[in-house]
Amino acid sequence: MPVITNIEDLKRIYHRRVPRMFYDYCESGSWTEQTFRDNVSDFDQIRLRQRVAVDMSGRSTASQMIGQDVTMPVALAPVGLTGMQHADGEMKAAKAAHDFGVPFTLSTMSINSIEDVAEYTRQPFWFQLYTMKDEDYVRRLIQRAKDARCSALVITLDLQILGQRHKDLKNGLSAPPKLTPATIANLATKWRWGIGMLGAKRRHFGNIVGHVKGVSDASQLGAWTAEQFDPTLDWGKIEKLMEQWGGKVILKGILDAEDAKMAAKLGADAIVVSNHGGRQLDGALSSIRVLPEILDAVGGDTEVFLDSGIRSGQDVLKAMALGANGTMIGRAFVYGLGAMGQQGVTTALEVIQRELDTTMALCGERKVTELGRHNLLVPEDFGGRWQG
Ligand SMILES: Cc1cc2nc3c(=O)[nH]c(=O)nc-3n(C[C@H](O)[C@H](O)[C@H](O)COP(=O)(O)O)c2cc1C
Repeated sequence: MPVITNIEDLKRIYHRRVPRMFYDYCESGSWTEQTFRDNVSDFDQIRLRQRVAVDMSGRSTASQMIGQDVTMPVALAPVGLTGMQHADGEMKAAKAAHDFGVPFTLSTMSINSIEDVAEYTRQPFWFQLYTMKDEDYVRRLIQRAKDARCSALVITLDLQILGQRHKDLKNGLSAPPKLTPATIANLATKWRWGIGMLGAKRRHFGNIVGHVKGVSDASQLGAWTAEQFDPTLDWGKIEKLMEQWGGKVILKGILDAEDAKMAAKLGADAIVVSNHGGRQLDGALSSIRVLPEILDAVGGDTEVFLDSGIRSGQDVLKAMALGANGTMIGRAFVYGLGAMGQQGVTTALEVIQRELDTTMALCGERKVTELGRHNLLVPEDFGGRWQG
């Protein structure tokens, strides 16, 4: 058993074990990948204020996200094709999250279906919705999430059209992988992954295949998704979806103060400050850089979560100390899943919690809920002197 001390260790094992097509799918940003890189490097610009001679006993990372108790303010973000990173990936990641005491979000573009995850975990989870042109399908999808007792609907707003990631086009990304000579050569070196996949419950998009008329295999599905994402999604449509759902709603993909205000006005229970992990608008600012401005804009009218670039418990602490109510991680849990399945996701969460807890202690804090700007050293022009 390798000694895992940080998320980077999991990433190295993940790289070795998972087919290149799916590693590249995860480890890419759009176009030049500037935003993808900034998401991580901008966290490094914020420094921490060391405090000493403070009683650091009885520490707690526990908090709440949309009224739900969490052992730390870190939810698993929706990640498409998670079930291609590891057999039954969504079921395994959801179970690890629930056992750890943090929320799991199932993507519309998952391999395991809503029903698979509900049956496997027997716990409520969050469901992420991509809005499609086929309104009847969207209505039924929302009903399926209700029937599965999902405790929040996460509506993703930053992917009405797909950002281009060069490697996905070059690799011919598909689920299951198309067997070209290059894919076969690569798969031959990933025997552990292959054996797992032979026993997997599903190998194509479980929320779609069999639920949409005329889509019964992956080749038809490719064409269907390309033309199905709804480019007309606007605030009016979002409001209707929120009414249709009738429960807690999280609006994900907000990067602008005006959009944040609109989301709060609509009554979202939370927003996620996110640029989709640098996968959509290349050239957009990092999430951590825009967080303070968005917090100011919403002024406590809605909870504010942050994702994009979190690779450690220190990153979580920085977001929380700036004022976020919670965070989400995408790649950090996928690395764990691809490296070691369910145990790898648990390990990723343990690593992050340990880092968060130790950093809190060395900053002289005992509770994650009491972190604040006083714990940070933020460059004066961190928000940037950008002209609109
Ligand atoms: C491989 C991959 C697939 C993703 N698929 C989805 C998705 O299906 N729905 C969604 O709302 N966001 C999706 N995202 C974005 C994540 O929810 C999240 O915003 C992002 O991963 C956060 O950045 P991080 O990976 O740096 O933590 C995906 C991200 C990755 C890396």
